[in-house]
Amino acid sequence: MTAPASPAAVPTPPATSLPTRIVPGQPLTALAPMQDVTDLAFMGVVAHYGAPDYFFTEFLRVHSMSRPEKHILRSIDENATGRPVFAQLIGEDITHLTRTVADLLSHPIAGIDLNLGCPAPKVYKKNVGGGLLRDPEKIGEILAALRAACPGLFTVKMRIGFEDTRHFDRVLDLVNTHRVDLLSVHGRTVKEMYRSEVHYDFIAHAVARVRCPVLANGNVTSAPAAARIVGQTRAAGVMIGRHAIRNPWIFRQCREIFSGQPVTPLTLADARDYVERLYRATQRPDLEERYHVNKMKKYLNFVGQSVDADGAFLHDMRRTETEAQLFAVCDQHLLTDPSRNFALEPYPGVIARPNCETPHANADGCSLETITA
Ligand SMILES: Cc1cc2nc3c(=O)[nH]c(=O)nc-3n(C[C@H](O)[C@H](O)[C@H](O)COP(=O)(O)O)c2cc1C
Repeated sequence: MTAPASPAAVPTPPATSLPTRIVPGQPLTALAPMQDVTDLAFMGVVAHYGAPDYFFTEFLRVHSMSRPEKHILRSIDENATGRPVFAQLIGEDITHLTRTVADLLSHPIAGIDLNLGCPAPKVYKKNVGGGLLRDPEKIGEILAALRAACPGLFTVKMRIGFEDTRHFDRVLDLVNTHRVDLLSVHGRTVKEMYRSEVHYDFIAHAVARVRCPVLANGNVTSAPAAARIVGQTRAAGVMIGRHAIRNPWIFRQCREIFSGQPVTPLTLADARDYVERLYRATQRPDLEERYHVNKMKKYLNFVGQSVDADGAFLHDMRRTETEAQLFAVCDQHLLTDPSRNFALEPYPGVIARPNCETPHANADGCSLETITA
């Protein structure tokens, strides 16, 4: 008689249903994948203030020479948030996409997510990311291959089209055909980039057409906005990007509003705490102070939208070059009147980076330098 296998010898089968949410019965929340933002450090900071149900990594580039980027693997392997992380891929070569999935399966991922939305010209010109939305046939081939390669969860994040929505229904039907487990829809076309209005009616259409849960994405600026958008689209939940950089408490606030409680207001002192925590979390021995300060300014561009209505914090913050100068500006603007409100919604007209909406011909992804809010 053979001895029964010890529990340790039995590998855990990959999950085939979505991970449980933090509060059962509430709409889902997810931190949107953001290149150069949603790394191990940032996910940890967001989790400190109130984790979303799900995290997504920034995109792993897939091509003939690619290997999963080490810093992105760290956000999976060293994830201490207690919440699941989906690994996002961008690419079009089926052999290398499936090879990458096989690699990633030895890491503690919640599932594989395919990027069908990146609007950077350097990306879409290679027919990957948002570029694929011009070619539904190719999308069908990729979804079939990835579905077959993923024993666990397979998810897709898409925009509503490339320059128009002519293929939208076809792509949604492919999502059904290939049994995608979760669909995130950013309600803009690729050509609309990041600043146009968001077409929530198209997200509602996707919710009605696909069989899997849908996350509504695009300008979910606050917890009240999340509740409104879930109501309007009937989506299973929301995916939040830039407004979680501005306000990392947003997921906790969503849970408050979803359970019928008032949203806990935030103060400038809370924002000062966030800046400090983010600075320490993103500090690395190999990162020179001035580069670190520059990196911080990219996050603070978003934070500044909730500090004051005339953009004075942003004006002063952008002129700092050292850690001491940066924190002096933060102390002046955030601790002079620390109990003043850190606005729930961004102040109108305070733009994260003015004059940067035009796509950078050379940008090879979605960098913080090129994306405003
Ligand atoms: C700095 C930055 C980087 C991004 N990188 C990615 C990415 O790697 N993969 C992806 O699918 N979307 C990426 N996006 C798009 C976001 O996931 C999201 O769809 C978009 O910002 C709209 O949501 P929001 O209004 O909540 O920010 C990025 C956005 C920003 C601002």
